[in-house]
Amino acid sequence: MAATLTHAATYLIEQEYAAYTPDQHAVWAELVSRRRPQIEAYACREYLDGYKIIGLEDDRLPNLSAISARLRPRTGWSTTPVSGFLPSDAFFEMLDARMFPTTTWLRSRDSLEYTPEPDIFHDVFGHVPMHAHKVFADFLQHYGSVCAKIANAEVLERLGRLFWYTVEFGLIRENGRTKIYGSGVISSHGECSNVINGGCEVRDFSLDEVLATPVRVDRIHTRLFAIESFDQIYEAMHEAEKRVLANRL
Ligand SMILES: [Fe+2]
Repeated sequence: MAATLTHAATYLIEQEYAAYTPDQHAVWAELVSRRRPQIEAYACREYLDGYKIIGLEDDRLPNLSAISARLRPRTGWSTTPVSGFLPSDAFFEMLDARMFPTTTWLRSRDSLEYTPEPDIFHDVFGHVPMHAHKVFADFLQHYGSVCAKIANAEVLERLGRLFWYTVEFGLIRENGRTKIYGSGVISSHGECSNVINGGCEVRDFSLDEVLATPVRVDRIHTRLFAIESFDQIYEAMHEAEKRVLANRL
């Protein structure tokens, strides 16, 4: 079942589930309960469905192999424990193999709102429910497969914008309302409040505009993009691939 990984193999680890302390489970529960009101009101239907499908429990840290066992038959994805931040070749290789690189460490109680590097809360609560959605799951795999073949750093940087404004900070329109699906908005009260309170301009998703909008990590977002459906980013990724192959991305 596991794909043969060249670049990512050295980053794979086991999740030592029994080693999590009661206090760490309590921190997870607190993180979930802090996000719960906004998630119920503003997360898109596909995220909420995925949350149930993967069997997340509100009061304890997720067991990654149990999540993978629920995801795999549905979309072929697994939630694979890794030792930390991956270099891009290893990251793309894992996405291409439908293995989502997932950290196992959890932020401490004194940094509930923000961690400079993703932790298991960002990775699992933020990302993994969307991997149960077939179209999103195919989009993400295709993204990895295209990027894994690119050596040009500028092209990768532009494609990184597509990842950023979808997977990390994507919004979607649902029955005339703006909902959220990007992990950075799902897992952060500050980013989510910024969208809800109008601190951020919500533009209709356009591949050209997204590719032309540099990522800023030093401030809260002032412009994000809303899709109409997940088919839109699936198709945008195919258009991006065509441009890559024609050397015009
Ligand atoms: Fe992320």
